[in-house]
Amino acid sequence: MQVLSVTSECAPLIKTGGLADVAGALPGALAPLGVRMRTLLPGYPVVMRALKDAVSVAHFGDCFGGPADVLAVEVAGLDLLILDAPHLFDRPGGPYLNQSGGDWADNPERFAALSWAASEIANGAIADWQPDLVHGHDWQGGLAPYYIARSPAAGQVRTVMTIHNIAFQGLAPAWKQAALRISPTDFHSDALEYWGQISTLKAGLVFADRLTTVSPTYAEELMTPQFGMGLEGVLRDRRADFVGILNGIDEDVWSPAADPEVRTYKLPKGKAANKALLREEFDLAAADGPLCVVVSRLTEQKGLDLLLQALPTLLERGGQLALLGTGDPWLEAAFKQAAGPNVGIRIGYDEALSHRMMAGGDAILVPSRFEPCGLTQMYGLRYGTLPLVALTGGLADTVIPATPASISAGVATGIQFYPVSVEALSNARTSCVICMNRRITGQRCSAML
Ligand code: ADP
Ligand code: GLC
Repeated sequence: MQVLSVTSECAPLIKTGGLADVAGALPGALAPLGVRMRTLLPGYPVVMRALKDAVSVAHFGDCFGGPADVLAVEVAGLDLLILDAPHLFDRPGGPYLNQSGGDWADNPERFAALSWAASEIANGAIADWQPDLVHGHDWQGGLAPYYIARSPAAGQVRTVMTIHNIAFQGLAPAWKQAALRISPTDFHSDALEYWGQISTLKAGLVFADRLTTVSPTYAEELMTPQFGMGLEGVLRDRRADFVGILNGIDEDVWSPAADPEVRTYKLPKGKAANKALLREEFDLAAADGPLCVVVSRLTEQKGLDLLLQALPTLLERGGQLALLGTGDPWLEAAFKQAAGPNVGIRIGYDEALSHRMMAGGDAILVPSRFEPCGLTQMYGLRYGTLPLVALTGGLADTVIPATPASISAGVATGIQFYPVSVEALSNARTSCVICMNRRITGQRCSAML
């Protein structure tokens, strides 16, 4: 089966979060099942610089305000199609934000162009290749199923839409309809209209043949007002076509035995050595208590404001925190403020350091208010770093909570807390983490027995 994956991020080329990891790992995971997946990605400067021997396989004279090429190229084992549209993507800043941290005003056009290019490819724009199926990710790929549904390829080329995060809905003002190549007859509440605006995510949810999200629990949550963020009705209507499939992680990239950042790793002794190195790297005092790590975007979603409030309790009980993240300026400032002998803070994005943190941490904290899947808790599980997570979404599906029963059966893999509140997080018995970790690493812990 020939599949075209339409994504705004793809590791190792361009990443702001888990979407990149998943988009980058999916082709390799599906290849043994007979799927050839090509990945359509915008030609951001960082992507263009990584290309060698790229060949133009399609040219568009007018791709949302300028000419564009589709370049075919292989990078890191990925079969890529790059939308080289300098008027949309050749600019400084990130994939979605400008250098001052604001959304690019033409984001709707930029990712409509990506989705439209996917539809053109579905309709034969590349001479010797056509997909059987187009797979759109999040709001950036949401218009692809719509354009295809309104093109000659409708019914021939099938479409799947995956929700990685319903909080980003791809909203654009109604007056952009013509610029986004949306027919006025499709601007109504059973199609692309959403409370008076255009929603490109809703376009995908209404027009794709099948819908998926990234964990079974999040799929159920999404059909409730508490988590559906206004789109629960659309998803309930499509329940028969909607399924939650748990994300996996790339075990070649996240492999304690082969990880170049894990110099001294070997369980059970390696944890202590890596922890000592990590303490040094974060200027933390030597201590007996658990070293808790966080690698995260610093946003409301991730519940890290709750962690800030629970921090005194964690420290009182002898715990330490090492945090790596970027995001909301107020959270960045508040964590910097909290730094001290037992709290190490790195504001920034650092892939290599994130590996060392998995290697050296006792526990990885993920106190998210909602979490479609979450990947860092799974990395933690691979590295003997116990997940302490909120009971929501994919966190509920990937961690077996420590209870007297699960501990005695030897199947617990982490600690879950509920409700997602400062009290529940504070009482999540971080002290257990040490016991649990010793159990995983084969050491006995008298407190637990
Ligand atoms: P989300 O996609 O919502 O941000 P995930 O847990 O699915 O959450 O994925 C986050 C990914 O981004 C993980 O691979 C994590 O290691 C990585 N990551 C997040 N923040 C940073 C950072 N500051 N430095 C390095 N990696 C980070
Ligand atoms: C989103 C979600 C995260 C998920 C990732 C990959 O960014 O916030 O929970 O793991 O997508 O699917």
